[in-house]
Amino acid sequence: MRMYDIIMKKRNGGELSKQEIDFFIDGYTKGEIPDYQVSALMMAIYFQKMSERETCDLTMAMAKSGDLLDLSRIKGIKVDKHSTGGVGDKTSLALIPMVASCGIPVAKMSGRGLGHTGGTIDKLESFPGFSTALTTEQFIHNVNTVGAAIMGQTADLAPADKKLYALRDVTATVDNMSLIASSIMSKKLAAGADAIVLDVKTGSGAFMKEERDAKALAREMVKIGKNAGRNTIAVISDMDQPLGFAVGNALEVKEAIETLRGNGPDDFTELCLTLGSRMLMAGGAAGNAEEAKEKLQRVIADGSALKKLAEFVEAQGGDKEAVYDTDRLPKASIVCQVPSPQEGYIGHIACDEVGICSLILGGGRETKESRIDLSVGIVLQKKVGDFVSKGEALAVIHANDKGKLKEAEKRFLAACSITRTAPVKKPFIKEIIV
Ligand code: URA
Repeated sequence: MRMYDIIMKKRNGGELSKQEIDFFIDGYTKGEIPDYQVSALMMAIYFQKMSERETCDLTMAMAKSGDLLDLSRIKGIKVDKHSTGGVGDKTSLALIPMVASCGIPVAKMSGRGLGHTGGTIDKLESFPGFSTALTTEQFIHNVNTVGAAIMGQTADLAPADKKLYALRDVTATVDNMSLIASSIMSKKLAAGADAIVLDVKTGSGAFMKEERDAKALAREMVKIGKNAGRNTIAVISDMDQPLGFAVGNALEVKEAIETLRGNGPDDFTELCLTLGSRMLMAGGAAGNAEEAKEKLQRVIADGSALKKLAEFVEAQGGDKEAVYDTDRLPKASIVCQVPSPQEGYIGHIACDEVGICSLILGGGRETKESRIDLSVGIVLQKKVGDFVSKGEALAVIHANDKGKLKEAEKRFLAACSITRTAPVKKPFIKEIIV
């Protein structure tokens, strides 16, 4: 078999066989096929697309390119959750303890943030001492004893995807449905859970700006998961404005804690209950969504979800007292309101721009090597559809540098559009694909 022939076949619109896909993934992972040939193939795939069968074969080849995590020593049905990423997306922080306190083991692999979206691991590191550098043994032990654990992605998990994603990133071949679906699902399948609940975001802060694209991606990932024998469900949710009010690592941790106390923002609480219900149903802890929601609301009301967060934080070396006393979390030295320049309704908030404001303040990573400031960020005071008077606060910025504060404030004001009439309210949950 020759890589040249595989490139030409795809360039001419042909369908690659499983053997051809296995050949290029294996050769690329081992460094036997050069970047320039794989780049050419990625561009051919970008234009000619892949069939459902090819996409499944590509996913499996990438999943098997490294270690496959064996979670069989964890009792019960293991359910994983994955978000396609967004601004203010602190869902895992609240969802993990909620689901775990309903008796469903959560064994989660997570990543760090890059660009305008934050990563769960960075957020969790706001708890002084918290570490995700667990061995597989510790990871399994924690899930069996605490009910939940989170581990940083190891280098050996789907290494083909790691190489391919980095290559796609610099060759303008990221935004192809089959390539995105296979990239995400290869990591999820390798991470070993029995069931996968996907949170696919759509809107100005999401990867998929258009709802129809988000739905198509979700359907593709659900098919891949099911073909691989994993119960897979996708929830399509809004990311046309930040999720909740807080954007920034420690600020989001605080908001997740408030949510576990029953005082969370409406959209964020709705998302946690919707995803959590699907996780409970997939794990066999509830027969329908209503029953599942009631269970989740109960663990919030009786304080067991908050207690579970404290246990989970402590088991991974973090300061559990910070769960009960959020003053122990990192705090910025400057806290400053952003007054509204006019009165009216919040018509739109360019969500990715708010993520960039957090990045400017130092709360995000420009490159993989950047160090982030966990204390900074933005807390919205108004969301789309709210009325604001002139001079009233639109947001509160938490900063450690006056220059960065000014830059973020300017950018934030440019991201908000204020209209004379209230915008039409759009549903937050767009669809659930089972
Ligand atoms: N996230 C991934 O893991 N892979 C993609 O291709 C896009 C987003």
